[in-house]
Amino acid sequence: MKKVRLTINGRSQQFIIDPKRVLLDLLREDLQLTGAKQSCDRKGQCGACTVIVNNKAVRSCLSKVVDLEGAEVITVEGLGTPQNPHLIQEAFVLSGAIQCGFCTPAMIMAAKALLDENPNPSVEEIKAALRRILCRCTGYKKIIEAVQLAGRFLRKEITPDQVRPNPNGPKIGVNHPRPSAILKACGVAEFSADIKVEGAAELAVVHSPQAHARIRSIHTATAEKMPGIIGIMTAKDIKGTNRLKLVVADRPVLCDTTVRYIGDPVAAVLAETREQAVAAAQAIEVAYEPLPVIKSPTEGLAKDAIQIHSDQPNLCYSQPQIRGDAEAALAQSAFVVETDFSTQMNHQAPLEPEACVSYLEEGDEGEEPTLVVIGRSINIHVHLGMLQGALGYENMRYEEAYTGGQFGIKIDITSEGLAGAAALHFRRPVRYIPSLTESMYLSPKRHPFEMKFRLGADRQGKLTALAMDYVVDNGAYLSAGRAMVFRALYMLSGSYYIPAVKALGRLVYTNNPWGAAARGAGPPQANFALESAMDMLAEKIGMDPLEFRLINSLKPGQPKSTGRVVEQWPFPELGEAIRPHYNRAKKEAEDFNRKGGPIRRGVGLGTHAFGISMSGDSANVAVELDPDGGLAVFAAAADPGEGNDSMFIQIAAHLMDLPMSKIRLVTRSTDRTTATGPAAGSRMTYMVGGAMVDGIQKLKSAMAEARATTYDQLKAAGKPTRYMGTKKNQDAAAIIDPTTGLGPSFESQVHSIQMAEVEVNTQTGDVKVVKVTTAVDAGPVINPQNLEGQLEGGVDMGIGYALREEYVAGQTKDWISFRFPTIATACEMEHIIRETPRVRGTLGATGVGEMTMVTTAPAVTNAIFNACGARVRHLPAIPAKVLATLGKS
Ligand code: FES
Ligand code: FES
Repeated sequence: MKKVRLTINGRSQQFIIDPKRVLLDLLREDLQLTGAKQSCDRKGQCGACTVIVNNKAVRSCLSKVVDLEGAEVITVEGLGTPQNPHLIQEAFVLSGAIQCGFCTPAMIMAAKALLDENPNPSVEEIKAALRRILCRCTGYKKIIEAVQLAGRFLRKEITPDQVRPNPNGPKIGVNHPRPSAILKACGVAEFSADIKVEGAAELAVVHSPQAHARIRSIHTATAEKMPGIIGIMTAKDIKGTNRLKLVVADRPVLCDTTVRYIGDPVAAVLAETREQAVAAAQAIEVAYEPLPVIKSPTEGLAKDAIQIHSDQPNLCYSQPQIRGDAEAALAQSAFVVETDFSTQMNHQAPLEPEACVSYLEEGDEGEEPTLVVIGRSINIHVHLGMLQGALGYENMRYEEAYTGGQFGIKIDITSEGLAGAAALHFRRPVRYIPSLTESMYLSPKRHPFEMKFRLGADRQGKLTALAMDYVVDNGAYLSAGRAMVFRALYMLSGSYYIPAVKALGRLVYTNNPWGAAARGAGPPQANFALESAMDMLAEKIGMDPLEFRLINSLKPGQPKSTGRVVEQWPFPELGEAIRPHYNRAKKEAEDFNRKGGPIRRGVGLGTHAFGISMSGDSANVAVELDPDGGLAVFAAAADPGEGNDSMFIQIAAHLMDLPMSKIRLVTRSTDRTTATGPAAGSRMTYMVGGAMVDGIQKLKSAMAEARATTYDQLKAAGKPTRYMGTKKNQDAAAIIDPTTGLGPSFESQVHSIQMAEVEVNTQTGDVKVVKVTTAVDAGPVINPQNLEGQLEGGVDMGIGYALREEYVAGQTKDWISFRFPTIATACEMEHIIRETPRVRGTLGATGVGEMTMVTTAPAVTNAIFNACGARVRHLPAIPAKVLATLGKS
């Protein structure tokens, strides 16, 4: 041990400390200053742990406390509080730079170190100062703007009051700060790993190194004797089904007889400290008998392939779509593109690991205790039911902590089953804070698609038919895999009218990591093929890609690929809106390329009509007039960062004509909310917001009937103060016809056309995205910053998907090997917003969260082709593929 004196947030303190202890642990574990976060496994990759030491931004996970004698340390908690925030914290809130908030304290501290030294930094200087901190949500644009605004505040050019919207002014269409933003800016929003549970023990898990094997034996004797061990848990200790059933019961909490992918959980250790638990987990010996490994859907479909699940075929789902005679139409088409495309397995990459806390809460005398699970779910009621079945325990409650991004990954649960099972088995509170590598093992991935594609057009350039045969690698467990197949079909024709369609999607079990939802979930893969083929076909016909897209736009009264006829289709207007930008970009690219040299500039388009509210969807929200005249909104509506809290509060305050401070959200616990479906599929504003509007209208009708303007008057009139609002999709049938793929579909669309401007180094294959311009119509905008934030984060994620990101099982273990997009790779972005009210929209609004992700990848690869003639058909477009396509490798 060594003695060290530090000044932390202005207070001089002495510590007698292990020489190996790092500053992050001292802050988080000893001092409960949990504003500094950990995402990467202390490898210096995420920067989420950044604090200020002696006026410099440092990564506290890399700083040994003993090396800091006499240092002055400032954490985000030392800057300001929600009641008295620092100007930089205010700037982040007012700029809309905070989504999930997991990176926010680090960004704020790096901004402070910069602004203290350089009060008026350039964009390049801001990027340099923040370069070590990752953000998955924002695309970095608003973070840069926040630092600029903070500089203006600090230079006294402007005050927060001059920027802050009038809380008594209009509620809709205004950048009212998210209610949670100030908590995140001040480091007091509690994410799962920040929650202190007295007496909690730490869990570590043994993961399979084998992709497919029988478990012969698990030897725990050595591990059991190690220091601090409370116990070891295997499948036999789980009392329920031990299967987490989202759709089918195929995924064990802990594997019993067989492991089916690298990373499958096999055993768990509970110990007094995390180090002890991890050490004991490493000492557990598992004997495996290897089984044949199915590495691809092709292998899974082979006649002699081993069946991965004894009760289900490897071909676990297939769905055709047939409208008209596509074969005949293609045969008669003047122009046909026929080729194949593929997209990679990818990680959704929320910055926060899959952390979870669980404990037994004592009830009244004689009552069974409640098992409480606190995690990152976006569908707490469904996940609670899954846990009850898997663990064989009814009396449970799920609570959503603040969540560091999710992007579809939490459509299913991971660490919750393990932490909950351990809390039950050992009767001890449990913290399970898996490492990043472990979180990647545990969590589902974006499904890879292999697509054979044909697209035809007549002499006038009108589309005639589309044929697609696609195979989806489901990985080891089903989860939401079927939805990837049918969602791709629901949105197959994108923005266009295509008279004949013939498609077949097949989902195949393999021994790869299991897939679930990932932003867009199915359409990003299929739309990459469609939009690439649209450009290839335009090239064949000799038409401009924008013109070609616009003459093929669907029109109201025409059907989508599912046969569902649309009422509204404001896509052509977006095409016209982007046209001047397109002409400008093409001219600039021509001028640039005229200069010659190895770097070529190109312009590419991608479009989509992304479906919102799938057939069969419904949502419920309860609203209740509070005695003080405010309104409480009860809905299990998760907000992992997209801004659902703002959406509820702004709409409710608008409809009730109340200050926003009088709206009370109750959203995070299964005990206090109604189920309202997942915070996924971009459905929250349209469906859940719509259900809230219905509830408010019922309440207002009751108040009008009773001639009541207050809670007391409503009560006195004998009327209830609580009303359940609902919104149901018009199509009660949940799915398309299993033999034709025709029938119901999404009832609303968000329309987008996106333009990427890229520079390709034709000698190295490197691609730089210079700018992405997005024209979007999601109906009337409730909060412009939130809309822009979704666009910017989606574009950044889409560029990563297009150019670099890939999850390779067994190789991708951290943010470097994942190739996480950084502030250095972020590009300029511009948005063109149109606001066509939707017939059944929430105040006319529809959803937007996933849409930009869908159009970015094809816009980028089409721009690469436009720049240099390299047609990349297999994502990601890494330099080697660009060069190979140019015939240079
Ligand atoms: S936890 Fe320190 S850089 Fe990632
Ligand atoms: S806001 Fe930056 S990671 Fe979510």
